[in-house]
Order: sequence, then structure tokens, then C-alpha cells
Amino acid sequence: MRTRPLKVALLGCGVVGSEVARIMTTHADDLTARIGAPVELAGVAVRRPGKVREGIDPALITTDATALVERDDIDVVVEVIGGIEPARTLITTAFAHGASVVSANKALLAEDGATLYEAAERHGRDLYFEAAVAGAIPLIRPLRESLAGDTVNRVLGIVNGTTNFILDRMDTAGAGYSEALDEATALGYAEADPTADVEGFDAAAKAAILAGIAFHTRVRLDDVHREGITEVTSADLASAQRMGCTVKLLAICERAADGRSVTARVHPAMIPLSHPLASVREAYNAVFVEAAAAGQLMFYGPGAGGSPTASAVLGDLVAVCRNKLAGATGPGESAYTRLPVSPMGDVVTRYHISLDVADKPGVLAQVAAVFAEHGVSIDTVRQKGRPDGDGEASLVVVTHRARDAALSGTVEALRKLDTVRGVASIMRVEGE
Ligand code: NDP
Ligand code: HSE
Repeated sequence: MRTRPLKVALLGCGVVGSEVARIMTTHADDLTARIGAPVELAGVAVRRPGKVREGIDPALITTDATALVERDDIDVVVEVIGGIEPARTLITTAFAHGASVVSANKALLAEDGATLYEAAERHGRDLYFEAAVAGAIPLIRPLRESLAGDTVNRVLGIVNGTTNFILDRMDTAGAGYSEALDEATALGYAEADPTADVEGFDAAAKAAILAGIAFHTRVRLDDVHREGITEVTSADLASAQRMGCTVKLLAICERAADGRSVTARVHPAMIPLSHPLASVREAYNAVFVEAAAAGQLMFYGPGAGGSPTASAVLGDLVAVCRNKLAGATGPGESAYTRLPVSPMGDVVTRYHISLDVADKPGVLAQVAAVFAEHGVSIDTVRQKGRPDGDGEASLVVVTHRARDAALSGTVEALRKLDTVRGVASIMRVEGE
């Protein structure tokens, strides 16, 4: 057992960082035994030095994060500040000064992971980021290491706790959108700017990270088709319930059948209540991984919050410290396949389209003809006249599997029909 401690610089001491510091202190003996050397918190960089931080020696607090990561005695930098800058520069500076890095920063990894991977490799350091996707759930390491000998074809799941919490509250408790978002924020699930959650940026960043690792290629945030939950209405949820479904924000990463390209997308989707993802409640996450030899694997657990996320950070910290003592590094970037990312139009799935139409003879046939012209086959149609007898009806069409581009063309043509007063909602149907 080495007695000289490994020194850790903690960048950020908010929801996640404060829990990392707490566990490092309360579990110091166990961590020492597991790593083979003590780990010492050598400094904590924050924005507001005057804030009271329970359990943290005030002498460790600094606002000069750069000076902290430039210290030659720092072995590991834990970055839980978030955002692109200064996080990116701090991480690359840490590598240049000899430290390995543990980060929970999915936004940065999805925006510019290549810069971080390249800097880590150039300086022979570790870059670990289990906490960046799906909170406490071990997912990055299984994909990077346990499944390294298999071929992953599909990753599908709920990877944003905040939006799952909101949809769950709206669906099961009849809560309003804003009320549910406020609750998720108070519980520490939401990003500093919750727009990142509700507009799907956070889930899209995670999808980019997952797709890159799963398919051994580079996928950036901009490559991911993204739709958030702000347009999901209680009418959508009610319509889903009538179909025996619920609505979830899904991240779906797929390798094309010919293996020559991949797709990555994030959008709300209806899934049957019988599907395991339908029962994922509150801020929990769940991810299915389909691999050629392994078959279907499911990962489930708390997807957000300080303590669950700190668990993933601490797991990485232990791994990185062990590597350091062994004079080794863990796996770096694996992007050798260089598979291109296909556009959303190439995705094939099913759709639930809700239309407001004129309630008169021939309308159904007209609508059906538009679907047929675009090669989109209809599975079911439900029409309901309005109780107020205003001459309009609600028409709900569920399609068979079709290309997303064909569906977009269909909707565009439907909007031009005089008898179609409005397209109330379009939602993809997954998991059947
Ligand atoms: P918080 O906003 O709660 O904490 C951010 C911390 O960073 C604060 O301590 C803040 O200081 C500090 N900080 C901000 N800017 C600077 C700066 N320029 N220099 C030094 N310190 C700075 O965020 P979270 O803890 O929720 O999230 C941290 C990271 O973890 C993000 O990347 C997030 O995406 C990720 N993450 C979060 C999860 C969650 O459930 N919250 C789950 C998974 C990942 P001060 O305290 O003084 O304001
Ligand atoms: N805001 C994120 C979420 C935190 O709600 O899932 C976990 O990454």
C-alpha cells in the first residue's frame, strides 16, 4: 500500500461536486483500500467562494481553477463545472500538466470530444466520463470495455431524467408542464439551463456519446436529430393512453442494416405500455443495447441527481487512480470505423398523426390518398366528430413503418388540403 496520497482537484462543487466531495470524505478508508493508496482532495474550484459548503475545508476553495489544474502535484482532475468553456481549456490544461481527468460533462463531450480524446492521448492520460450518460447507470464502461468484442447494432433508451420526470408527472398525476419542471429543478435533476433538458439538447448530447462509442465512430451533437418535449400536450398523452401507449423522450442510435452508416435521434415517441421502457418512472433512465452476439441487454437506474451521479464519478476516480498506480491508461477513443451519420429522413419507423379535418363525406378518402401517394401505408384510422358540432372532426392515423422523409412529404401535402384544418400533432411510435 502506497502511503503518499493521490491528489485530486475538484472543479465545481454544485449538485454533483458537493456529493463527490462528501463521498470522498466519508468513504476515504474504503477508497484507499480499493485503490491501494489514499486519495486527497487538494483543491476545489468554484465561482462563488463565499458560499457555505458543508464538509469542505474552506482553505481548499479557490476561484482560480486554472492555477489548480496547472499544479504539478495534481494526479486527477474531476470536472463537474459543466458547459463548454472554461471546462474544455481546464481539461486540456490538466492533461498537459500530467493529470488524468474524470468528467460528467456530456455537453462538452458531444460538442468537442475529439479535442479531449486527442489531448488525453497526446499526454498519455485517462479521460473517463461514466457520469456523462444516464447518471449512476454503468453504461459507458460496458460499451467501451465489456462489449468491445461484440458488434452493437442499436442503443435505445430514456437518457434524460428531467424530461422523464415531467412526462411521468403529466401522464400519471395530471401535473402541468411548468409545475413538473420546477419540481425536477428543485430535486437537482435539471441542467443549469433547463432548456437543455426540455428541448432535448442534453439527451442529444448523450445520444452522440453513446453512438460514437457503440459504433466506433465520431458522432457530434449536430449529427443528432433533436426534438424536445415542449410540444407534447396532455391531448397527446391522452391519445397515447387510448392506444395502450405512453409518451417518452427516447434516444435512438442505430447502425444501418447494411452496416455502412449510422443514425442518432432524440424525440418524444409513443411506446406500448407493455414495453419495459413504459414503466420507467420519475427521473429514472433505462437503456437497451442490442449487440450481434450478446442479444438484448437492458441497463436501468437513477439517471440524474447529485448522489447517483457522484457514484459514477467516484467509480471513474477509483479506476483512473488504479491506472495511475499501475503506470497504465484505460481505453481511449475508438473511432476507426468512420461510419457516416445518415440524416433523419433515412430513418424508418411508425407514426401517429393527429389531424383536424372537415367533417364531411370524402375527407377520409382524400387523406388516405395523400398517404398512398407518398408510399406511407396506414395501419389504423380513428375519426371522431366534435361534440360542439362545429363541422370539424379529429382524425388520428397510425401508419406502418415508413421512411421519415416520406412521412414529412405526406404531412406537407396534408397541410395543403382544404379539408385539413390543421395537423395537431405528429409523433413517432416505437418499441413494437
Ligand atoms: P451545478 O450548477 O450544480 O454546479 C456547477 C459548479 O461549477 C458550481 O459549484 C459552480 O460554482 C461551479 N462553477 C461554475 N462555473 C465555474 C467556473 N468558471 N470556475 C469554477 N467553478 C465554476 O451543476 P451540476 O453539479 O448539476 O452539474 C455539473 C456537471 O455534471 C454538468 O456537466 C452536468 O451536465 C453534469 N451532470 C449533472 C447531473 C445532475 O443530475 N445534476 C447528472 C449527470 C451529469 P458555484 O457553486 O460557486 O456556483
Ligand atoms: N439534466 C440531466 C437529466 C442530468 O435530467 O438527465 C443527468 O445527466
